[in-house]
Amino acid sequence: LEEFHRIRRLTEALCAPLSPEDCQLQGFADASPPKWHLAHTTWFFDRFILQELASPAGSHVPFDERFLSLFNSYYQRLGVPFTRGARGVLSRPGLAEVHAYRAHVDEQLVQLATRLDGEAAAELERRLALGLHHEQQHQELILTDIKYSLSLNPLAPSYFDAPLPEATVVATTERFLPVEGGIVEIGHAPRRGSFAFDNESPCHRVCVGDFALASRLVTNAEFEEFVRDGGYRRSELWLADGWDRGFQAPLYWRDGGEFTLHGLRPMAAHAPVTHVSYYEADAYARWRGCRLPTEAEWEIVARRESASGGNLLDEARLAEGRVGPEPAAPGSSQLFGDVWEWTASAYLPYPGFRPLCGALGEYNAKFMASQHVLRGGSCATPRGHVRATYRNFFPLETRWQFTGVRLARDL
Ligand SMILES: [Fe+2]
Repeated sequence: LEEFHRIRRLTEALCAPLSPEDCQLQGFADASPPKWHLAHTTWFFDRFILQELASPAGSHVPFDERFLSLFNSYYQRLGVPFTRGARGVLSRPGLAEVHAYRAHVDEQLVQLATRLDGEAAAELERRLALGLHHEQQHQELILTDIKYSLSLNPLAPSYFDAPLPEATVVATTERFLPVEGGIVEIGHAPRRGSFAFDNESPCHRVCVGDFALASRLVTNAEFEEFVRDGGYRRSELWLADGWDRGFQAPLYWRDGGEFTLHGLRPMAAHAPVTHVSYYEADAYARWRGCRLPTEAEWEIVARRESASGGNLLDEARLAEGRVGPEPAAPGSSQLFGDVWEWTASAYLPYPGFRPLCGALGEYNAKFMASQHVLRGGSCATPRGHVRATYRNFFPLETRWQFTGVRLARDL
């Protein structure tokens, strides 16, 4: 419950710098208004815990029955979800009512947790863990969605009140670290007390050749060389689907600088390049005579490191206004945090994959087509949320997440 309150508070802290008008913004169909994130994360606990675990005992007092369908995101087995691209028209319930909804569900959950025991309490704990990891995913989306919305405003508003101090760190030299291949195990091996999403299982064997992985992420300065060399105009570097999209630069590069959560800023040359699609990451890698790592290659290197290190989101960084990719410091591999790393691997079920039972099976399984896996978390991923086996996934043209590039090579 302590963890529950801590995570719920962080969601509210992320929305604290935003006005009610900001909380209503939906910059495009794939992004959601902050107010919707506040409500939908609450809906998850309401629908999957209070409705299913408390209602049979007749103890659940719903805040508003209608919210059970209004804030359903994509769970078809729970009824027809409200149109994703139209979430911005939901001016009612207002922000204050959504906060009241959050407080109501929190109170009901705490009461339920103190009442249940035995197998019912164990099930509650499993669902609470899933609900909290779900909320952490939406915490990242709150930042990336509002960044997109603010970027559309010609005033280039800043999410943070305080200016970001200039980065003085110079990125370390990029090196390629050799890794011996073989038959290796990847995926989540269940351990008591450890959480993983269903798509990280089962643990299974894969064959990996000898390869080398870059010691850090690709920087803005390095990516700028690709742009100056005409990288975006050289069709031989591009996959056809990417070429047809006509990208010209990373999403937020403009006027010689970059739009950030601090508004328009000078380009941070040594910080990792971010907001690039899979196609741009892939074209850049080809230009360098390299390739993107597979998810297995990434994982066998990343599991040697602590997943809680790195430039990830936490209360302290949020309070300091330090939410953005940072130059690689000596000793840092940047495997966790900074930017999600596009991998060469399609998002597919692992051999023997079994989705969660019931409507929760829709959480990950039904998206296993036409997307690629990203690894490692970003500066907007809450610390404690990501791990070496974690599989994020997005369509290849996606650019509004903090997505970047790490290179790999065959040996
Ligand atoms: Fe969700």
